[in-house]
Amino acid sequence: MEDKRPTRQEALELLHQYNESDSLRKHAYAVEGVMRYLGRKRGEDEEKWGIIGLIHDLDYEKFPDQHCTQTGEILRQHGWPEEYIRAAVSHGWGICSDLMPQTPLEKVLYAIDELTGLVVTTALIRPSKSVLDVQVKSVKNKWKDKRFAAGVDRSVIEKGAEMLQVGLDELIDDTIKGMQEVAEAIGLRGNPT
Ligand SMILES: [Fe+2]
Ligand SMILES: [Fe+2]
Repeated sequence: MEDKRPTRQEALELLHQYNESDSLRKHAYAVEGVMRYLGRKRGEDEEKWGIIGLIHDLDYEKFPDQHCTQTGEILRQHGWPEEYIRAAVSHGWGICSDLMPQTPLEKVLYAIDELTGLVVTTALIRPSKSVLDVQVKSVKNKWKDKRFAAGVDRSVIEKGAEMLQVGLDELIDDTIKGMQEVAEAIGLRGNPT
């Protein structure tokens, strides 16, 4: 099958087709926002980075037990380029995939996926419920509190930062900024102060 370049519209249609849950869609938009922000910051192909962010968890709602693997299958059936498939599947390295993140895009996706969840929870405990008010130190304060956003595996984020050779503060700052750009779409505009 020839490799065509997927458009954001195609990615969005697949996302909506496979994910009916509002929270999964919002997670996809959040990861897309951060991938776009960081792709742009690094002088890379922002569109490609964003699209991969959008579809990285494509299979999660319908095939939770085959997470990552099914995303690969679905994208392949739709003729997506292997580069996109590899990147999406490698986000689950060590959890649902044995593809280790290798390119900057793959490492960034791996590092920020869980972190977006921590930023969401940090925004939601603020009176304003706004991601526009979230600061790096508020996220850092909750790092060791295991009951806070208990599903977020901090060690994955730390491993990702290490792979990228960026400090945790910078990674958190970039993640917050990327999510702020899509505050409306992820339901976290709230009432900023
Ligand atoms: Fe995932
Ligand atoms: Fe994810």
